[in-house]
Amino acid sequence: MPVDVILGLQWGDEGKGKIVDYLAPQYDLICRFQGGPNAGHTLKFGGEKHVLHTIPSGIFRNNLKNLIGGGVVIDPITLEKELQNIRASGVEVEGRLLVSRKAHLILPTHRMLDKASEAAKGMAKIGSTLRGIGPTYMDKTGRNGLRVGDLEANDFENRYRILKEKHLGLLKIYPSLDFPLEEEESKWFDSLQSLKGLTFVDGEYYINDRLKQGKRVLAEGAQGSMLDIDYGTYPYVTSSNTISAGVCTGLGVSPSSINEVIGITKAYCTRVGSGPFPTELNDQTGEQLRKVGSEFGATTGRPRRCGWLDLVQLRYAIMINGVTQLVMTKIDVLDEFDEIGVGNSYQCAGEPIQSLPFDLTSSDLKPIFEFHQGWSASLDGVRSFEDLPENARKYVEMLEDKLGISFSMISTGPERSKLVLRSVSLPSL
Ligand code: GDP
Ligand code: IMO
Ligand code: MG
Repeated sequence: MPVDVILGLQWGDEGKGKIVDYLAPQYDLICRFQGGPNAGHTLKFGGEKHVLHTIPSGIFRNNLKNLIGGGVVIDPITLEKELQNIRASGVEVEGRLLVSRKAHLILPTHRMLDKASEAAKGMAKIGSTLRGIGPTYMDKTGRNGLRVGDLEANDFENRYRILKEKHLGLLKIYPSLDFPLEEEESKWFDSLQSLKGLTFVDGEYYINDRLKQGKRVLAEGAQGSMLDIDYGTYPYVTSSNTISAGVCTGLGVSPSSINEVIGITKAYCTRVGSGPFPTELNDQTGEQLRKVGSEFGATTGRPRRCGWLDLVQLRYAIMINGVTQLVMTKIDVLDEFDEIGVGNSYQCAGEPIQSLPFDLTSSDLKPIFEFHQGWSASLDGVRSFEDLPENARKYVEMLEDKLGISFSMISTGPERSKLVLRSVSLPSL
């Protein structure tokens, strides 16, 4: 069987966790392939809310396995807290949560470096989640990193010490930092016991063997396409490949093993952290989107910047990911808007353009909005496309027409069950 992929088409927080949790029972194995605890994936069911940072969103579904893939970076302290929360809600993870030996470890000094680097950038800061993501991937590409498999080596503590010393040397170029290193180190070493209690695997063999056996695999993206290290709004991006190409490197599967690429977009657009956001609304409408959509970060609690959908950006994300199906989330947030804006093209130096320019920060760049009539009705509980108000259907169909691809699912609320299913063509659905 091939691998299906679910990923975000915007700047993250598109509702990936909800959709993965919903679809998980159709699969045997759910895998995170990149990112780390910078992610916050929210799941709501049975009147409860769960936020996952490192653990795949299939963990609450029995009878299936979850793998933290080799492209992920793991902070054992965050992972331990997640495990405690999951176990407290009565879910058994033993034998169901596997970790690739090739996943890299986030050290306390990686978090220090993240903090120091952001402080030094001043106004130009990335708006990092300060989880140590950038410095950990820098050590990976710089060939200095520590991996989960290294925990099985006798000289692990010595390797840790060498890397920590290197970091302390690097930190000397920054002003001194308020960070309780000794305390964090002690927590870190304690939390390694929880990590060591999980099943370590050679992820690339594990997945390819399962695929050969006919098992169904779903790859769960973190962040969003515009935060991709290569194709996002660089330098205001994260440090991994968030796009579908990242599935191959992050899991050790070949491009030919990928089947459906399910791209998720909100019915509008948000971004948390710094960097260009052409359709951002710094007005009452943006404020209303934030309020109605509860747009506050699931990891850091920061208010998310809000704006209308950006079709130039979405077409770009569809192109670089090879999206085969779209999913729209949070359409219910638009229920009370009289008019709904959509950025259909940009104007750059007086000229209309349909593609993303190299420099998205240019003050000359302006989105050109079209406005569509709202539906002034609650979409709460609507389960079929035909039962959506006419203007909501028109909004969806207008987007399908402009994007050249259809929506297989439309999410009408945070809870697991709040979904309109349309033409879903996934294994056994
Ligand atoms: P992720 O990082 O892509 O998994 O998304 P987050 O969990 O960070 O943010 C999405 C937020 O929207 C969460 O609070 C979800 O509970 C919520 N959510 C997901 N789908 C819907 C939806 O269709 N409607 C509404 N109102 N909220 C949704
Ligand atoms: P999920 O998986 C939204 C953003 C940060 C910052 C930039 C770099 O929940 O969609 P980093 O900590 O990676 O160095 O931060 O990327 N960012 C996210 N924004 N959702 C996320 O994850 C994000 N992960 C990182 O806000 O702008
Ligand atoms: Mg999130």
